[in-house]
Amino acid sequence: MATLSHRMSEISEKKPTKPVVLTCAQPTGRLHLGNYLGAVLNWGRMQDDYDCYFGIVDQHAITVAHVPAQLRDNTYSCLAQYVACGLDPARSHLFVQSHVIGHTELAWILGCLCPLGQLERMTQFKDKARKHQSVDAGLLFYPVLMAADILLYNAQLVPVGDDQKQHLELARDLAEKFNHRYSDTFHIPEPFISKIGSRIMSLQDPTVKMSKSDPNLSSMVYVTDRPDEIRKKIMSAVTDSTAEVRAGEDKPGVTNLLTIMSACTGRSVATLEAEFSGKGYGDFKKGVADAVVATLDPVRLRYDELIKDREELGRIFKAGAEQAQAVAFRTLSKVNRKVGFVERPR
Ligand code: TRP
Repeated sequence: MATLSHRMSEISEKKPTKPVVLTCAQPTGRLHLGNYLGAVLNWGRMQDDYDCYFGIVDQHAITVAHVPAQLRDNTYSCLAQYVACGLDPARSHLFVQSHVIGHTELAWILGCLCPLGQLERMTQFKDKARKHQSVDAGLLFYPVLMAADILLYNAQLVPVGDDQKQHLELARDLAEKFNHRYSDTFHIPEPFISKIGSRIMSLQDPTVKMSKSDPNLSSMVYVTDRPDEIRKKIMSAVTDSTAEVRAGEDKPGVTNLLTIMSACTGRSVATLEAEFSGKGYGDFKKGVADAVVATLDPVRLRYDELIKDREELGRIFKAGAEQAQAVAFRTLSKVNRKVGFVERPR
């Protein structure tokens, strides 16, 4: 009987539902236009067609030196920015990693299936290890924790940038290993590369990606910038000396501005080129600035409102944690049983 009801519950869990999408980001301060147009906007567009999990991974954030009070503030601010950018707690599961029991537990189990050499060969680990004098075990273990984030919710699709592909590959390996060593448990997660995600470059050096680690603050527009700040940064964006509004490899600055304007207005680059043909960069940049301001204004207004409302943020944290926890406990108990742990007495 017990076995039967158990199998019934497994079957009902497998009822055809929307595919599970999961992605996470560390709570590192402010989102910029590259994060928004290149990632978060597209995550938002997936919310009706997929069962979406968006995690703020604070446990990952302590793998390098950090300031505790700042981490806490950034976690609140990160949530407020995501919601302001359109991630909707009513349609998706927005959660904080440390609020959900299961991430580190599953990471431990997966770590016991993971050859040390594979972690030592991770390019991001090698890069970070080179930059720091001493390296903690947590930094080495980072990709295993990331695999646990993904597998805990049995995600099928994981939107990630290029820099995370190797980590996702490890998550796939570990899922396969677990399935093979024990029994079929996890989907093998696939990277989700959006066709519409725009690659936004620095406003000051359009040959490199817009990056939060850029010391030159006029290289990026933050989603919470005021209109006057946005205009100033766009007007001083690097272009070239030909005064011709056209996309092309020889014109990275203008191309970047066209990409930005196209993403903000939904109009094609070709349409914009035609519209600005014969006009100077001054007019063009003004058009770009207007488009960015119109796009980000509602984001900033919503953010300003939310960030003051800790109660509302607390409610969102709580709802997200409860939803994520229910799924996490289910996975965890299944995994614990397969590994051979005695069922936790209740
Ligand atoms: N390592 C990712 C980054 O820095 C963040 C991350 C943690 C993540 N867990 C994840 C991304 C799970 C996707 C899925 O960008």
